Amino acid sequence: MKKVTLADLHSARSAGEKLAMLTCYDFTTATVMQQAGVPLLLVGDSAANVILGHDSTTAIRQPFLQELTAAVRRGAPLAYLMADMPFGSYHGEIGQAVDNVCEMVRTTGCDAVKLEAVARQSKLIRSIADAGVAVCAHLGLRPQSVQLHGYRAQARTAKAATMLVQTARRMQRAGAAMLLLEAVPAEAAKLVVEAVDIPVIGCGAGPAPMSHVVVLQDLLGLSNHRPKFVPQLPQASLRATVDAYVDLIETAAYPAGEHCYAMAPGEAEKLSTDA
Ligand code: KIV
Repeated sequence: MKKVTLADLHSARSAGEKLAMLTCYDFTTATVMQQAGVPLLLVGDSAANVILGHDSTTAIRQPFLQELTAAVRRGAPLAYLMADMPFGSYHGEIGQAVDNVCEMVRTTGCDAVKLEAVARQSKLIRSIADAGVAVCAHLGLRPQSVQLHGYRAQARTAKAATMLVQTARRMQRAGAAMLLLEAVPAEAAKLVVEAVDIPVIGCGAGPAPMSHVVVLQDLLGLSNHRPKFVPQLPQASLRATVDAYVDLIETAAYPAGEHCYAMAPGEAEKLSTDA
């Protein structure tokens, strides 16, 4: 296996290849991920939940996420490694946000950062891209903003799906290197994938994205609540579970119908491809 690059993600998208992605938060697990050939890893702010036991991802701070990301980098030097920017680290002055992003990249060796974006943050995305950092715009369900919209699937109406497509286009124009769609119906995700030409990662977004990510602890059945889009695999060792997950994605056997969120009744028929 050679180092996975952004160019490889673009090639995979063009070739219609599917790539597995998992969250990872420590050195030892990262070495298993690398041995299993998981091409993309995310040090998510879900560490707040699964590592620290908080109810919300907003509880985690950047220095802690940096330590975790650097540890994962040491364990999986060949993976395409994405680091989450935590709540509050990119919400004030754009200059400070860019400094925080640069600090994340400098101290961890991550390949990309991810932040939960709304349309009016396109200027921030532009500034991060101008700093030479690959930035992934996380759209759909944004766990850092659950106080506003709750933990529920997004873009379930034709109008909301159209807005999602517009935001996705705006993020691409601003220089986003990738998009991540969390908890959106398969129909809406498909429109987004067709509307942009950058790699799109799904997290409960149906089969259209070129990559799919789930939280490792959910996949292993270790968390209290397993989201409906997480594939249920037989209890096995970490390595066997990761191998089975990679296989499900590479053969496009996942996500299947039971892993997808539904549009609201009557809304799928109203969707138009020229959103
Ligand atoms: O923090 C995280 O684990 C994430 C995924 C759920 C996409 O952002």
